[in-house]
Amino acid sequence: MGISEFTPRVFSGIQPSGNLTLGNYLGAVKRFVEMQDDGIETVYCMVDLHAITVWQEPAELAHNTRELAAAFMACGLDPERSILFNQSQVSAHAELGWIFNCVARLGWMNRMTQFKDKAGKNAERVSLGLFAYPSLMAADILVYHATHVPVGEDQKQHVELARDIAAKFNHDFGVAFFPEPEPVIEGSATRIMSLRDGSRKMSKSDPSDMSRINLTDGPDTISRKIRKARTDPFPLPETPGELDGRPEAGNLVRIYASLADMAESDVLRQFAGKPFSEFKPALAELAVSRLRPISEAMGRMLDDPAEVDRILAEGGDRAAAIADPILDRTFEILGMIRSRTRKR
Ligand code: TYM
Repeated sequence: MGISEFTPRVFSGIQPSGNLTLGNYLGAVKRFVEMQDDGIETVYCMVDLHAITVWQEPAELAHNTRELAAAFMACGLDPERSILFNQSQVSAHAELGWIFNCVARLGWMNRMTQFKDKAGKNAERVSLGLFAYPSLMAADILVYHATHVPVGEDQKQHVELARDIAAKFNHDFGVAFFPEPEPVIEGSATRIMSLRDGSRKMSKSDPSDMSRINLTDGPDTISRKIRKARTDPFPLPETPGELDGRPEAGNLVRIYASLADMAESDVLRQFAGKPFSEFKPALAELAVSRLRPISEAMGRMLDDPAEVDRILAEGGDRAAAIADPILDRTFEILGMIRSRTRKR
């Protein structure tokens, strides 16, 4: 099903697994905020059911979920204009996730590169949930009939899997029920790299804290991490094309462009011929000026966890009001008897 027959709706999610990074901010949350004002309904989720695919300490999971909610709002997501909630409060995700486990084929899941990266040599010992996770992700999106999914580059394959699942479901049951959602991967920050190694993605789970900037880092830490970021000995070039083959330099330029809302070519126009010893302090100053208000606002919101929980409850109610009828119709398509009147 093309998406043109469906009312446009945006859905995306982030795992509350701690250490929200500059990559998550520039590649995802900043885009979520921009899309909030496009006149389309926006639904943003803290995907706690995804987080438990690897071990989470219960007290930390609760803290990280509230911290992520605070980060969403501190970055500019407004709980009035967007639906903000944590996944486990809307049971339709897990229910549709199971149905999709029965639609997705093992061969499709075996091709998921993120699973291979995360499981590594340990594939026999990781949870079944880690393997099945892209089918839960498809359910997250499709239980809202979402049409647009803003994500970083690393999630593209998973959104494509959601399209395959939607198409197979529609084909198997002879319906035109689920849309095939489009990944929205735009801007200069779709793949922010580690500050220590330009060939690896900046990641919350990298063992080296120096490899990433966390949204909770203070100004001194941010400046130190940028000062120590790996670069090459050459000055900044005049055009973006000349950054090919210079992954660390390209990464810092893209971070600058995205933080400043500038084109990469304009950043280079400003800094062409300058050494990194001049570019890095400018980048550090820019990063601090953008991130400090965010971490301060997060701190204020976390002082009142009951208010955060209230916002998540309200978002959960609004999310369930969309998802539950779609799930009910899915059960009906499958031929399942749903004769209870009181559901939960
Ligand atoms: P997660 O929690 O790993 O990452 C959240 C978002 O941040 C983006 N991102 C990056 N973007 C640019 N550069 C980086 N270095 C970087 N690191 C992370 C990710 O692409 C993502 O957009 N499976 C998802 C969460 C999820 C989801 C969904 C997303 C669950 N259900 C439904 C969309 C729709 C994940 O683990 O993202």
